[in-house]
Amino acid sequence: MAISSTREVPVTGAIPTHVAIVMDGNGRWAHARLLPRTAGHAKGVQSVRRAVETCGAAGVKYLTLFAFSSENWRRPADEVSLLMRLFVQALEREVARLQDQGVRLHVVGDLSAFEPKLQDLIAQAEQKTQHNDQLHLTIAANYGGRWDILQATRALLAARPELVTNPNELDETCLAPYLSMAWAPEPDLFIRTGGEQRMSNFLIWQMAYTELYFTECYWPDFGETELLEAFEWYRTRERRFGRTSAQVHSLATS
Ligand code: FPP
Repeated sequence: MAISSTREVPVTGAIPTHVAIVMDGNGRWAHARLLPRTAGHAKGVQSVRRAVETCGAAGVKYLTLFAFSSENWRRPADEVSLLMRLFVQALEREVARLQDQGVRLHVVGDLSAFEPKLQDLIAQAEQKTQHNDQLHLTIAANYGGRWDILQATRALLAARPELVTNPNELDETCLAPYLSMAWAPEPDLFIRTGGEQRMSNFLIWQMAYTELYFTECYWPDFGETELLEAFEWYRTRERRFGRTSAQVHSLATS
């Protein structure tokens, strides 16, 4: 099971092991060019490709992208269906490239809301790439952090109904295995493009001690240079996990 940053101090390096990204600004990128919002999402797929390549080359082991939130169903119907089409296309076209790059694909979220064809493609892509371990690429689709905590709680109580009458036995180690990314370490670096500074119900349980990086750059313009800048910023962070700076320094020099 992955280490919990609130229970023990994880070992961290100069390059983040796990990067989580909110790919924001597609609509504004398109608007600035008098294009429909959907053109921004289509362009955004190219940035996804670049991010996968850059992370793989830099030695990042887990890249998690927020493609569609539980709240994105509130968008206009044509935009939602374009996003679904892009997702289907990407799964049909990109799996061979992921195989060549040694990338293992995972999709997390409430997939029951998706059309059966999309659910099948997801299952096939996950199965085809299951032996790769260069980079774990996780797409969060119809995902919400609160949904994740609730589905984990339901699954835990179904497995261990005695916890209802013994609530003091419930601690985070009980819940952690049921979270949808239980197999991955907690994100080291969160990146949000597009100028907004919020987490938007992304991996809210898992990001208790994640470093937060915000950039004005719109997602379709976010390429290798911009991602390496974020890694450089991350390298300068002092990750204290509740300790004092003096404690961190004395450990580094001992
Ligand atoms: C946010 O920008 C972006 C999204 C809700 C969707 C992101 C999807 C992609 C990058 C393409 C598909 C991805 C995969 C993995 C196939 P926004 O629309 O909120 O932009 P705005 O804030 O400028 O309006």
